[in-house]
Amino acid sequence: MNHAGGFPLLFWPPEGQWGFAGEVAIARLSVAVPQADVEPIPRGLRVPDGPEIGVSSETLSMSRTIAVANQKGGVGKTTTAINLSASFAALGKQVLLVDVDPQGNATSGVGVARADLQATVYEVLLGSARPQDALVRTGVPRLDLLPASRDLVGAEVELIAAQGRSRRLRSALEPLRERYDYIVLDCPPSLNLLTVNALTAADSVLIPLQCEYFAMEGLAELIRTLKLVKTRLNPPLEREGILLTMVDRRNRLAQQVEAETRRLFGPLVLDTRIPRNVRLSEASSFGKPAFHYSVRSPGAQAYMALAHELLRRHGAVAPGPGRRRSGRGERLKRDRVSGGRE
Ligand SMILES: Nc1ncnc2c1ncn2[C@@H]1O[C@H](COP(=O)(O)OP(=O)(O)OP(=O)(O)O)[C@@H](O)[C@H]1O
Ligand SMILES: [Mg+2]
Repeated sequence: MNHAGGFPLLFWPPEGQWGFAGEVAIARLSVAVPQADVEPIPRGLRVPDGPEIGVSSETLSMSRTIAVANQKGGVGKTTTAINLSASFAALGKQVLLVDVDPQGNATSGVGVARADLQATVYEVLLGSARPQDALVRTGVPRLDLLPASRDLVGAEVELIAAQGRSRRLRSALEPLRERYDYIVLDCPPSLNLLTVNALTAADSVLIPLQCEYFAMEGLAELIRTLKLVKTRLNPPLEREGILLTMVDRRNRLAQQVEAETRRLFGPLVLDTRIPRNVRLSEASSFGKPAFHYSVRSPGAQAYMALAHELLRRHGAVAPGPGRRRSGRGERLKRDRVSGGRE
C-alpha cells in the first residue's frame, strides 16, 4: 500500500521540538473521576467576565491553542476536539472549546442548544460581538465553549474583502488566552477561510487520521496548506501530531494503515490511538463528552490517554498510572482531579 508516496517530503522540516525519545506508549489509564462527580452547572449559561473564570492551573503557565484539522470529512475531528477538551478539563486544566464549523457539531456535542445562543463565532469573526460575550459554560467543569451556528457558512463570503480576514480568529482569541490553559479549535471539513483562521490562531495542529483504506487521501493538500499558513501567516505553528482514530485492531486493513502511517510519518504519529467505540457517538448524541457519559468506555479512556500524552509532551505532567506521587503539591493536584477520592 503506498497511497502516500512522497508525503513526508512535503511536510515542513523537523524542528527538533517533539521530544519523543524515551516516550512510553500510554496504554489504558484508569480514570479517577466517576460520572457522579460532574458538577451540575446549567448548560448554555453565559460565562461572566469575572476573574474566577479560567485562572491558569499551576502545572501550565502558558496557554496553548490546538487546531484539530483535516479537510477529509468524518475522520473524528469533532469527537477529538470535544473529548480531548473534556479530558484536559478533567485533569484540572481550564479549557475553551471553539467551534469553527458551521455544522455546529462541537456545540451540540457538549450539550449547548444553538437556539439559545446570543452570539457565536460568526459575530465574533465579523466583529459585531466581543469574544467574551459569546462564551458559554458547558455542563463539564472547567470547560467553556465558543459556539457556532449555521450563520458561520456566510462568514467566508462576508469576510472576503475584509482586512486581515485570515487573522480574525487569532485577534479574537488573544484576550481569552490568559484565561485558559488550553484552547481547542474544531475545524470544518474543508481548507477554507475558517480553517485558515483556525490554523493562523493555533500554536499547533492535531490531525486526526481515520484508519481506513483512503486514510491518507487529501493529506498532501492539507500538508501544503499547513506549509503555506506557516510560511505566510503563522510561522510558529507546530505539529501536535497525527492521531489515529476509529482504530479496529482486529481488522487487518486498520493494522496495515497504522503500520504504513507510522513508517511514513514516524514520531509525528502520536502513541495514543483512538479505538472505534460506539460510546463515543452515543455520548455526542446525548450532548456529553464520553468521559461524562461512560467513563470506563475504551473511547473515553483513550482520549484521557491522549490528554496525558500531550500534557507530557508540553511538559505539564499530569498524574498518570505508575507515577509515584508524594509531595503535597502532587496530592493537591490529584485531589483536584479526583474530587479528593481515589
Ligand atoms: N472512535 C470512534 N468510534 C466510533 N465512532 C466514532 C469515533 N470517532 C468518531 N465517530 C463517529 O463518526 C462520525 C464522524 O465523527 P466526527 O463528527 O467526529 O468527524 P468529523 O471529522 O468532525 O466530521 P466532519 O468532517 O463532518 O466535521 C460521528 O458520527 C462520530 O460519532
Ligand atoms: Mg466535525
